[in-house]
Amino acid sequence: MEFQNILLEVRDGIATVTVNRPKVLNALNDQTMEELRQVFLEIRRREDVQAVIFTGAGEKAFIAGADINELATQTPLDGKDRSRRGHHILEIIENLGKPVVAAINGYALGGGCEIAMACHIRLASENAKLGQPEVRLGIVAGYGGTQRLTRLVGLGRALEILLTGEQITAQRAYEIGLVNGVYPQAELLQESEKLLRKMTANGPVAIKLTMEAAIHGSQLTLAEGLNLEANLFAVSCTTEDMKEGTRAFVEKRAAKFQGK
Ligand code: COA
Repeated sequence: MEFQNILLEVRDGIATVTVNRPKVLNALNDQTMEELRQVFLEIRRREDVQAVIFTGAGEKAFIAGADINELATQTPLDGKDRSRRGHHILEIIENLGKPVVAAINGYALGGGCEIAMACHIRLASENAKLGQPEVRLGIVAGYGGTQRLTRLVGLGRALEILLTGEQITAQRAYEIGLVNGVYPQAELLQESEKLLRKMTANGPVAIKLTMEAAIHGSQLTLAEGLNLEANLFAVSCTTEDMKEGTRAFVEKRAAKFQGK
C-alpha cells in the first residue's frame, strides 16, 4: 500500500511505522490519520508482523499534535466526528493483538501524547517533551487524553497536565509512569526493538490473549476481569504453543512457537 505521510518498514517480524511530516513536526492531519488507520489494519492482517515500533520522522518531534490548521476551521459537528474517528483509530492500535512501542523521539503533544498512550509501551528519548496543550487552544483533548491519561497516571497528575497544558520532560514522564524508559535519542529505536524482541520470542497466542486480558480487563471490575482471565487461560491451554512451551521447558531447550 502507498502512503503519502507514513513510512512502513518491516524487518524480521517487526514493523516500524513512522509519521513522516517533519516540516510540521509530524502534526496529524486528516490524511495522516486515515493512513494510520489503513497501516494498522494492514499490520493486524499481516502474518509476517509480530510487533510494531511507532515513531516520528526527524530528531525534533514524535508528533506535535493534531494539525492546528484543520482544527481552526472545525464546527461542533466536525469536531465530534473528528474526535470519534480518532478514538476509533486509536482503538485499532490498542486492540491490535501485537505489542506496539511508541518510540517518543521528541515532542509528543496533544494527539501525539494521546496516540502514544494508545500504544502498549512508551519509550522516550531524553529530549522528549509530553503534554496535552489543548486547553491553551480553547479546546478539550479529543483523542482520548482525558480518559487514558487519568488511567495511566491517576486523576490528580492527569488533571495537572490537562489543565495547565504545560509540557513535561521525559524524566518527569518516567517518574509518573507515563513512559516506561528514557534513552539517548540515538539509542531509542534500538532499545525499542530490543524490548519487542524479548516479547516476540514468547508464544504469539499467549501474547495476544495476555494483551486482551490486561487491556480489556482494566475496564472491568476485578471479579469480571478474573473471569475473563480464567477463560483466556483456558483458551491458551488448547494451543500447540502451550504444548511446545511446556515440553521445551522439560527438555531444557528453547521453545519453537508456531503461533497456533
Ligand atoms: N499543527 C500544525 N502545524 C504545526 C503543529 C501542529 N500541531 N505543531 C507545529 N507545527 C508547525 C509550525 O506551525 C511550524 O510551521 P512553519 O515552519 O510553517 O511556521 C513548524 O511546525 C515548526 O514548528 P515551530 O512552532 O516553529 O517549532 P518550535 O520549535 O518553535 O516549537 C512546539 C515547537 C511543538 C512547541 C510548537 O510547534 C507548538 O506548540 N506546536 C503546537 C502544539 C500543540 O498545541 N499541539 C496540540 C494540538 S491539539
